[in-house]
Amino acid sequence: MTQIIEACESKTNTTPDFPMGWFSVARSQELQVGEVQRVHAFDRELALYRTRSGVPVIQDAFCPHLGAHLGVEGRVVGESLRCPFHGWRFDTSGQCVEIPYCEEIPERARIRMWPTAEKNNEIYIWFHPEGKDPLWEIPHVPELENEQWTAPRHSQFEIPIHIQDIAENSCDPVHFQYVHRQPGVPASEVTIDGDGRTMHLHADMEQAANPSHLHSTVFQPGLAIVRTTYGPGAEMVVYNSALPIDRNTTLLRWQLSVRREIEDLAGDDVMNGIIEGLSQDYPIWSNKVHKRKPVFCRGDGPLVQYRKWVRQFYVDVREID
Ligand code: FES
Ligand SMILES: [Fe+2]
Repeated sequence: MTQIIEACESKTNTTPDFPMGWFSVARSQELQVGEVQRVHAFDRELALYRTRSGVPVIQDAFCPHLGAHLGVEGRVVGESLRCPFHGWRFDTSGQCVEIPYCEEIPERARIRMWPTAEKNNEIYIWFHPEGKDPLWEIPHVPELENEQWTAPRHSQFEIPIHIQDIAENSCDPVHFQYVHRQPGVPASEVTIDGDGRTMHLHADMEQAANPSHLHSTVFQPGLAIVRTTYGPGAEMVVYNSALPIDRNTTLLRWQLSVRREIEDLAGDDVMNGIIEGLSQDYPIWSNKVHKRKPVFCRGDGPLVQYRKWVRQFYVDVREID
């Protein structure tokens, strides 16, 4: 009799492609006027620059002429980017507008541009597997510009995991007990707004050393706002934005702000707490595989909801089935 052995799972053969959405490519402060950077995201090379008038621009990296990387030693000239190899210049629509040694510009001298936006102190790229225009807006985080809240603290980590599996963590109350050493599984509820896209997780961390209520709003894989309330006036917000570098690597960014009333009490401790929390997740994340068809039990309601919700961010759901 033939024995059927399940194919060995590896980190690379099971992860889905990239979901659609807005993804943070840089902090606003990291890109000065006239600055050019290379970005590796979605397993592609991209060039990011800020025009003289201050507009951030993201485009494909490689010049249609002989393929030089425009994000490496390319130069901003007004509202355009000049290739470092032979000086062809591309405007913010991707059109070549100047070839210094030739009058005539070939029709195909164009470069692909990516929808780009700047909000919440960050620069974002819109990614859609079929190149469609943005289907929703980046959420606004009012606390990040409110005087009653502290100036945001920043942190970022590169994590060897698919972006979908990071977002899954916010619908996983059970792991709080086992990974984050909470005394029990927090009472929690997952709801989805009428738009079908915005998901909320409410969790009561009643048994924690500092009891709190957590409300996480997830807008898409890679964009979430987590608000935690410890009591009247004792609130904090963590804005979470992620960038898929490739199928198995994600850059996770946070901005943390707390109400001024608790700044001295909580500011640094909270950020350290987040980093510590991440260091608890890290060994799991960096060694797990992505399970396309997990075996769920009755107690896994929020995770099942998450897996249904996340399907809408893929054009080809076979990617995740
Ligand atoms: S490779 Fe860019 S101008 Fe020649
Ligand atoms: Fe976690």
